[in-house]
Amino acid sequence: KPSDTKWMMDAHALLHKFYHHLLLNTKEGQEAYDYITGRGFTDEVLKRFGVGYSLNSWDFALKFLSKRGYSSQLLEKAGLLIEKEHTAEYYDRFRNRIMFPIHDHKGNVIAFSGRVLCEGEPKYLNSPETTIFNKSKILYNFHQARPHFRKLERVILFEGFADVIAADGAGFPNSIATMGTSLTEDHARIIRRHVENVTICYDGDNAGVEAAYKAASLLIQQGCYVRIAMLPDKMDPDDYIRSKGPDSFKQDVIGASLTFMSFKLLFLRRGRNMKDEGERIRYVEDVLKEISMLNKAVERDHYLRQLSDEFSISLDALKEQQFQVYKSLK
Ligand code: CTP
Ligand code: MN
Ligand code: MN
Ligand code: MN
Ligand code: MN
Repeated sequence: KPSDTKWMMDAHALLHKFYHHLLLNTKEGQEAYDYITGRGFTDEVLKRFGVGYSLNSWDFALKFLSKRGYSSQLLEKAGLLIEKEHTAEYYDRFRNRIMFPIHDHKGNVIAFSGRVLCEGEPKYLNSPETTIFNKSKILYNFHQARPHFRKLERVILFEGFADVIAADGAGFPNSIATMGTSLTEDHARIIRRHVENVTICYDGDNAGVEAAYKAASLLIQQGCYVRIAMLPDKMDPDDYIRSKGPDSFKQDVIGASLTFMSFKLLFLRRGRNMKDEGERIRYVEDVLKEISMLNKAVERDHYLRQLSDEFSISLDALKEQQFQVYKSLK
C-alpha cells in the first residue's frame, strides 16, 4: 500500500499537470494566460517552469482528485484542501490564481504558490507546511539549477519566482529563490553542500537589503564565498531584466556585485547625512569596528587605505584607532 507521502506527491503531480493545461490550452485560463504572457513569460518559459492556473471554483481540485481516489482528509493534510471548521466539508485552497509548482530537490511537486491576477491580497498564497513541504529546507528551482552549479561554480539567490524565471531566461540557469521568507540555517547548509560561491540578488528595497545582509551572514558562517548584487531602489531583478535587458543585468548587476565588506560599508551609510561631521565620524568608527573583525591583515589594510583616501584621514591615525577598537572588542 503506497504511503501518505506517495499519495500526496501523486496528487500534486496530477493537479500540476491539469493546472498547466488549463493555463495553456483553455478558455477558462485565457485571462490568466494574457496576464502572465503580458509580463513577458513565453510558452516555452511557462512549460519549463510548469506554471499553471487554478480555476475560479471552490471544488475543482476536490472533485478532480476525489474522482481519482484521493480522500479529502489526505488532501487537506497535503495542503490542497481546507476544511470548513470541523464540518468534514472541504474546499479548494487555490482558486483563480497563477500556479507556480514548488519542487523538492529531486523534482517532485510538493507544494504550490498561487499568484493573484493583477492586484489583491495576499499576492501569493502558499501551501502550508506539510509532511512533504518543509519550508525551511526547500529552495525554489533547486532541482533545475543544481546541475548548473558545478559548471558555473556559482549559485544566484533571489527572493521570488519571477526573478528566478527572468534570470534563467537571461542566461543564469543556476538561479534559485527563498520565496520571500528569510534564508534559514538549513537553507545555507544545503547550499554549501552543493556549491561554494553564492551571489545574492535580492530586491532593491529596504526589505531586500536587510534580508541580503542576514542571508550573507548565514552563508558565510557555513563557509560560502558571498557576493551581493545590488539593484536600484524600487526595482527587483525581474523588473530590471524586463526594462534594461539581459546584457545590462549581466554586466551592471551581477558583474558589479560587491563583497560583503563593501556591501556593509554601503549598509552603514544608509540614512546617514555624510555632509554632517558628527555623522561622518560615527560612520568611520562603525567601519573601523567592521575592519577589526576581519581576519586577514591584507584585507584590513585594504579597507583602512580606502577609508583614509575617502575621508582624508591619515593612515596612521586610522590604524591607531582601529587598534583601540580591536582591543575594546576583545
Ligand atoms: N511572497 C509570498 N507571499 C506574499 C508575497 C511574497 O510568499 N504575500 C514570496 C513569493 O515567493 C515572492 C517573493 O516572496 O516571489 C518575493 O516577494 P515580492 O518581491 O513581493 O514579489 P515578486 O516576486 O516581486 O512578485 P511579482 O513580481 O509577481 O509581483
Ligand atoms: Mn514539473
Ligand atoms: Mn520583495
Ligand atoms: Mn520582488
Ligand atoms: Mn517582481
